[in-house]
Amino acid sequence: MTANDRERMRVFYDELGEGEWARFEASPRGRVAYEVHRQFLDRFVKPGDHVLEVGAGPGRFTIDLARLGATVDVTDFSPVQLELHRQHVGSTPAEGAVRSREILDICDTSRYDDNDYDVVLAYGGPLSYAFEEAADALTGLLRVTKPDGFVVGSVMSWLGSWRFFLRGAIEDMKAVGEDAIDLMLTTGDLRHSQTSHVCQMYRARDVANLVAACGGEVVAMSASNWASLSDTDVLEEIEANPDRWARFIRHEINACAEPGALDGGTHLLFAARKP
Ligand SMILES: C[S@@+](CC[C@H](N)C(=O)[O-])C[C@H]1O[C@@H](n2cnc3c(N)ncnc32)[C@H](O)[C@@H]1O
Repeated sequence: MTANDRERMRVFYDELGEGEWARFEASPRGRVAYEVHRQFLDRFVKPGDHVLEVGAGPGRFTIDLARLGATVDVTDFSPVQLELHRQHVGSTPAEGAVRSREILDICDTSRYDDNDYDVVLAYGGPLSYAFEEAADALTGLLRVTKPDGFVVGSVMSWLGSWRFFLRGAIEDMKAVGEDAIDLMLTTGDLRHSQTSHVCQMYRARDVANLVAACGGEVVAMSASNWASLSDTDVLEEIEANPDRWARFIRHEINACAEPGALDGGTHLLFAARKP
């Protein structure tokens, strides 16, 4: 079941192709999300680090890892996304930081040795697509991370997505029925209500429980985003003034890290390490 659902999502990302690159560019909300992710990552990567990037997609964060002075083993389970990675990163200076590109399912990291990497990065929800195997997957990511290193990742946010995608959820309700939506909202499992994009959504406490169940400890969490999920016109006005935008991003990143905001975004970022 889980393997079939993962395969469904591999086909989804193969077909999505170039659309994945646009996710952090197409709207002010996306551009804020990029800043939240980028600045969160900055805290855990230092020059010389060796990073395993899982679900790297077309490579936006590989470019940031290169900027931070890390070297990167790039992986994804979608051959189309890996090829797009080659196209987006291959012609930039960041290519010098790429040590390898390989197909990898987050649920099977057995090819790597224990304590191989300073940082394992899994942004954009590959853990959300591991479904029932999420604990095995995260245990594997922690195993290949050095004792003083970090697993940095993001998952889809259960409560924040419900709020942000309320209109879509009501449309889905008309198609799949109230009982299916009840199940989706009581389990966070989008397989109850969707056919194309399915994933497991998480609350902040679910992420903390998952990390603990895998023998790790959470060192930081953040929502993405908080105040910037709506009012596109207001965001565009703020963005038109670079100083105001920089101030807004600073406040937004601080807000996203508040315990009361963690469940408010569409995504939840976390950093974990071995205790
Ligand atoms: C939303 S994209 C994120 C891409 C990139 N990390 C980013 O944040 O911009 C999710 C990526 O995870 C990959 N992915 C999904 N499930 C995966 C799995 N089980 N194992 C490895 N990669 C997976 C997809 O192919 C896709 O490239």
